Amino acid sequence: MTTAKDLSVPFLSAVIEHIAHPIFVKNCEFRFVLVNRAFCEMAGYRREEMLGKTDYDFFPKTEADFFRAKDEEMFTTAQMVAIEEEPITDVQGVVHILATTKVPLHGDAGEITHLVGIIHDITTLKAAETALRRSKDELELRVVERTAELIAAQQKLLRQERLTVLGQLAGGLAHQLRNPLGAIQNAAAVLRKAQLNGDQRQALDIIEEEVGRSDLTIRALLDYSRVRPPQRREVLLGDVVQEALQIQRVPPEVVVEVVSSPDVAAAIDPMQVQTALGNILRNAVEAMPEGGRLTVETRRDGEKVTITIWDTGAGVDDQTKARLFDPLVTTKPEGSGLGLSTARNLIESHGGTIRYADGAGGGAEFTVELPVGPLQSDAEASQ
Ligand SMILES: Nc1ncnc2c1ncn2[C@@H]1O[C@H](COP(=O)(O)OP(=O)(O)OP(=O)(O)O)[C@@H](O)[C@H]1O
Ligand SMILES: [Mg+2]
Repeated sequence: MTTAKDLSVPFLSAVIEHIAHPIFVKNCEFRFVLVNRAFCEMAGYRREEMLGKTDYDFFPKTEADFFRAKDEEMFTTAQMVAIEEEPITDVQGVVHILATTKVPLHGDAGEITHLVGIIHDITTLKAAETALRRSKDELELRVVERTAELIAAQQKLLRQERLTVLGQLAGGLAHQLRNPLGAIQNAAAVLRKAQLNGDQRQALDIIEEEVGRSDLTIRALLDYSRVRPPQRREVLLGDVVQEALQIQRVPPEVVVEVVSSPDVAAAIDPMQVQTALGNILRNAVEAMPEGGRLTVETRRDGEKVTITIWDTGAGVDDQTKARLFDPLVTTKPEGSGLGLSTARNLIESHGGTIRYADGAGGGAEFTVELPVGPLQSDAEASQ
């Protein structure tokens, strides 16, 4: 067992030499008089090089200035100085982060003769702390993103639920109204054959006109309630656009321009997409009662096809914009407000999207994106 009297100078020197933490001693002139092995390894200099020299002989000036200021503080206050964090650049140019304490060593007369520095190299600790902070930040960001996604998914689910109920209601109502309307129409046809005066004929005209209009509303309700899974087949998008335009019977005061990249094909349900595009086109025509320009552009963007439709009407007012694709939203006296929500149902059941933007010229701009789907030509090309 080692006793106090065995603690000879060589023994203590050996202990200091083997301590894993860097240790140094400086005299009043701030020159190194002792450096242990751990200190030499950290700084990258040999002991013989260091003894008798100052920090300015080894470290960058800003670092040496800082070390000197702390040394002076210790000599003036005669108190221990603890530095929580300080950088030091070794001989290779590698920066270490240190936590250092500097304590005074007193001579026989009580005067301070030396400064003893004990270093804790916290470089790895700091790196781990930074990595931890970074992953915490990333984690927080991901939580925010996931929460936003969850909220969006929940809202979509709620909307779909509402739409399903509304769809069933609309479908049921449409069926029930169809029969009495048919009966009214038949009765009107029978009356038409009778001897009628002018007023009676006019009354019959009104009946038939209103029955015709109600029939259109019923058809819109049925379209809305009857979204079935798309029956996909490969078609040219330009053809679908042309057919949708023909059905709308665009009046001559509206100039139509179709900008279509040739041969843009997609695997879609042509009837459903035609109905969706038709609803957008009809709105555009209705938005330009005095005439204007209707432009349709189709193109392929990677795995998607995009159809943009814009007009030179007055555009969508701010109040309508917020609920544009919701059912029963209309600003038209005769409108059912089902055109755009039906279009969205049809496009979304294709895995596509539909969105609105104010057109550059003040009119409305609708963009439909649809997945291209599996095409024969693509399959052949990849063989
Ligand atoms: N191109 C457009 N320009 C201006 N406003 C538009 C345009 N397209 C849609 N809107 C606005 O959006 C509303 C909703 O359109 P939506 O097609 O769903 O219903 P609607 O046209 O009113 O009725 P319908 O069921 O007969 O189509 C319209 O009433 C109109 O105010
Ligand atoms: Mg409409």
